[in-house]
This record gives sequence, C-alpha cells and structure tokens, in this order.
Amino acid sequence: MLQYSVKEIPQVQGKTAIVTGANTGIGLVTARELAKKGWHVVLACRNQTKAKEAIKTIQSSTGKSANVDFLPLDLASLRSVREFSSSFLQKYNSLHLLINNAGVFATKFQLTEDGHEIHFGVNHLGHFLLTNLLLNRLQESQPSRVVVVSSVAHQHTFREGILFDDKKRNAPWKNIVERLHAYGQSKLANLLFAKELARRMEGTQVYVNALHPGVIRSELFRSENPFLSLRSHKSRY
Ligand SMILES: NC(=O)c1ccc[n+]([C@@H]2O[C@H](COP(=O)([O-])OP(=O)(O)OC[C@H]3O[C@@H](n4cnc5c(N)ncnc54)[C@H](OP(=O)(O)O)[C@@H]3O)[C@@H](O)[C@H]2O)c1
Repeated sequence: MLQYSVKEIPQVQGKTAIVTGANTGIGLVTARELAKKGWHVVLACRNQTKAKEAIKTIQSSTGKSANVDFLPLDLASLRSVREFSSSFLQKYNSLHLLINNAGVFATKFQLTEDGHEIHFGVNHLGHFLLTNLLLNRLQESQPSRVVVVSSVAHQHTFREGILFDDKKRNAPWKNIVERLHAYGQSKLANLLFAKELARRMEGTQVYVNALHPGVIRSELFRSENPFLSLRSHKSRY
C-alpha cells in the first residue's frame, strides 16, 4: 500500500482539478490542499449553499487569491451529470485532475432519478458517466489523472462480484447487512472501473488511481440508522 502526505502535492500553475463532493469531509480537505498548491479547483457539489460555504472555508485558509469555483453536480441524476460536464467543457479548456470523491454510505433505501439503487447510482454510475464525458478533455490535457475514492468495504462483496441483475439490486433491503452490501457493491464497482480505465489508458499519460482513504470521522456516517450513525461525533478537519 502506498501512502502520501499533503506535503507531497506539487506546487503548480495553470492546472485545473475537479473534486466531486467537495463541500465537506475528504473532498473539502482535498480541494483546500490543492488550492493551497496553486490548483484551480472546481467544486462539484449538489448543494449551492454548502458549496459557497466551502469556498469561504477554503479561502479562509488560502487567502482570497485561491482559484476556486463551483459548478452544480447531483450524481443521483444522469441529467445533472450531463449538464455539469457540458458547463465544465464550455468554461474550461483543460482538465488535469478529476477526483471522484462524492459518496453516500448506508443511507436509507432509495432510487436515483434514473431508477438505480442510490449507492450504485451515486458512488459508481454518476462518476462513471462523468469520467467518460470528460475523458477527451483529460486526454487533451495530458499528463492528467483520474482518482477514484473507493473503500476497503469493497471486500464485503468481492467474492460474489458485481450483481448485474437490476431487479435484485433495486429491491429494498431487508436488514443492515444488505444495506452495507449495497455500499460494498458500489465501492467494488469503483475499483473495477478504475482498473479497466487504467488498462484502456495504457500508453497515454492519463493516469488512473483508486484508493481507500482510511477511516475518517466525516459526515459519511450521517445515517438515520442508530447502528450506522456517528452523528454525535462532530467532524473536525
Ligand atoms: N470517511 C471514511 O471513513 C471513508 C472510508 C472509506 C471510503 N470513504 C469514501 O470517501 C469519499 C468521501 O467521503 P467522506 O467521508 O468525505 O463523506 P462526507 O463527509 O459524507 O462527504 C460526502 C460528499 O459527497 C457528496 N454527495 C453525496 N451524494 C451526492 C450526490 N448525489 N451528488 C453530489 N454529491 C453528493 C456530499 O454532499 P452533501 O454534503 O450535499 O450531502 C458530500 O459533499 C466517499 O466516496 C466515501 O465512500 C470514506
């Protein structure tokens, strides 16, 4: 396992990054640290108020000169993913770093706008479409990188592999184990996607990485289920 520290983020000029789910948790810290090193960071978030707060938070530690923008992105809607991509492509000529970070964990059962189980839809399908719509721009901007934030939770479902039966996937869970299984499936899909994309990008300077970030006390554990919630612990970044 490779481990890196924020000190190793190189100082850059004229480089653009997208961080999904950048208004809180790991995404916010990632966006802040990139902005400190001169990256132009686009926060891809579903909630404008939270995104504006995040910009203020980032600017309070980097100074007003930080190059941070917001574009709306709801990964639970493939329409929104398409709108985000087309706005980004119109506005920015280059993309050097795409961080697929946003995610939901053990949230209550629901389907996305397009009828997919929420973990699979947000954590994997939304990011899958986003990456594909931005791939040409990543290729034009080489050297560039896609980072997929996965989880060791993929191991829950590693043996059975991806469940391809949509009917089974979209059936409401009966218990906590099935709910965690849905998260694990989405994180396994993240890893398989990263592996295949890396294979397809071989011979180019579009690099693809997947990672488990460690166990971080973020808002990820905001489940309404008391067994899965760590809400009482206030997050500190
Ligand atoms: N924390 C851990 O211990 C841990 C461990 C392993 C893997 N991870 C992974 O790390 C990543 C970041 O998690 P975190 O711990 O930083 O969690 P977090 O604090 O809950 O942040 C998750 C982010 O994803 C956004 N998001 C959720 N649904 C979205 C949607 N439909 N469209 C766009 N954005 C959406 C959230 O936006 P809102 O604020 O609007 O909800 C938030 O900005 C996730 O992929 C997670 O699976 C975390």
